[in-house]
Amino acid sequence: MKKKKLVIFDTTLRDGEQCPGASMNKLEKLEIARQLALLGVDVIEAGFPVASPGDFDSVSQISREIKGVTIAGLARAVEKDIDMVAKATEKAEFSRIHVFLATSKTHRDFKLKKSKEEILEQAAKAVAYARRFCDDVEFSPEDASRTEPEFLRQVTLEVVKAGARTVNIPDTVGYAIPGQFGKLIRKVVDSIKNEDAVISVHCHNDLGLAVANSLAAVKAGARQVECTINGIGERAGNAALEEIVMAVRTRKDFFKADVGHIDAKRLLSCSRIVSNLTGLLVQRNKAIVGKNAFAHESGVHQDGLLKNVSTYEIINPTDVGWEKTNLVLGKHSGRHAFINRIEALGFRLDGEKLDHAFEEFKRLADVKKEIFDDDIISLVQGQFSEKTGLRYHLKKVKTTVETGVRPEATVELSDGNGLVKKATASGDGPIDSICQAIDKITGVSCKLLDYSVVSRTSGTDALGEVSVQIENEGRKVWGKFAGTNVVEASAQAYLNAVNKLIMYS
Ligand code: KIV
Ligand code: ZN
Repeated sequence: MKKKKLVIFDTTLRDGEQCPGASMNKLEKLEIARQLALLGVDVIEAGFPVASPGDFDSVSQISREIKGVTIAGLARAVEKDIDMVAKATEKAEFSRIHVFLATSKTHRDFKLKKSKEEILEQAAKAVAYARRFCDDVEFSPEDASRTEPEFLRQVTLEVVKAGARTVNIPDTVGYAIPGQFGKLIRKVVDSIKNEDAVISVHCHNDLGLAVANSLAAVKAGARQVECTINGIGERAGNAALEEIVMAVRTRKDFFKADVGHIDAKRLLSCSRIVSNLTGLLVQRNKAIVGKNAFAHESGVHQDGLLKNVSTYEIINPTDVGWEKTNLVLGKHSGRHAFINRIEALGFRLDGEKLDHAFEEFKRLADVKKEIFDDDIISLVQGQFSEKTGLRYHLKKVKTTVETGVRPEATVELSDGNGLVKKATASGDGPIDSICQAIDKITGVSCKLLDYSVVSRTSGTDALGEVSVQIENEGRKVWGKFAGTNVVEASAQAYLNAVNKLIMYS
């Protein structure tokens, strides 16, 4: 039996961004879109253009700059939303309008207050309207898994007749169970057998079943899966792209679906980039991309592996981007070697950003003998923060820590005009003191909601990655920074977040 291509629809930039605290700026979204294109996904859902001017601009920019992949935008089933997607994606090489309308009884009765007939009519009308702008129209009956199966079948047929090329069946609230969901998908697939449309699925992870449900759907005939890097998304998240791809690839004997167009070696770097830019850490035991995914602790397992890796490994770690040794550069490495390594990792930096990253690399190489890929990824990612338009730069930070003495910090920042300002503050701990000193200079008083340090590399000179989440007048933003000096990295991460607040106020 010939394998059918499985369309990988990535919604990291839309549903993924709906994850609390995961909002990204335009540069960060553009970089993620670039990485997704390199990974080889078929569709990038770049945003929900009507949601905000920022979302509209971001979808437009991605449409202009990212080629060779379909760029989709989300729209409710109303003309205004569809107009916005059509406009935002007009410069895309390939564009898709993704229209959604809830169909379940709960949503019909309580949210929309509409009858089945009204829903059918609105869905078909919206799809037909979207087709005026674009041949590639997708329709999602929101909360499909809780919709009466017969009504779902009717909606599917109506929207296909109206011109939808893809009908996406979302398990919006993560309610589905694999066996049952597979049967539902089989019914939907059979109902449009004679039509030229793809059935897709979009599963949420409220019961931890998003990947399992998506895979049950693939087995039942779905030909598109909507997923996100690291499984980020609304509430408990969406199906994790890396898990879907590797399950279908590893068990091709079972799924008989083709994901050969995905460059799996890029899965790990995509995961790291998304984690870094969103501030959402990847759990250690996460399949495929977690730090422990290929770590073998037990003696019995290690013995088996030494005899034959297939005893305890079903995936070769290098196939998804892990390298046995990623020691690459040191203090004698030049700019050329640095650029080569950046490019090998899938990044592209030029102009001031490259100069800046190289300066930071040299500074790091002075204090750290061996520079690993992780170090380089962290350096490069620093360039996708709001650095280009930064209002404030950290010049100096000094803290005192002594048992029994209230900590104090002195911070020097330069503002956008190069003017250096200095402040001293004391707080509950050295980090609190630094944050307060920064607040004094910037005049933006922030509450530190979340603070974490994880080591990105090994050894006592490891790169510590600091993530902070701060709040000011109800707005929450993330800031990140990695460095061998975690106190300085903490100041940088906090300043990074404060600058985001300032830039977008
Ligand atoms: O979860 C959902 O139902 C969605 C739709 C808009 C596809 O995200
Ligand atoms: Zn969703």
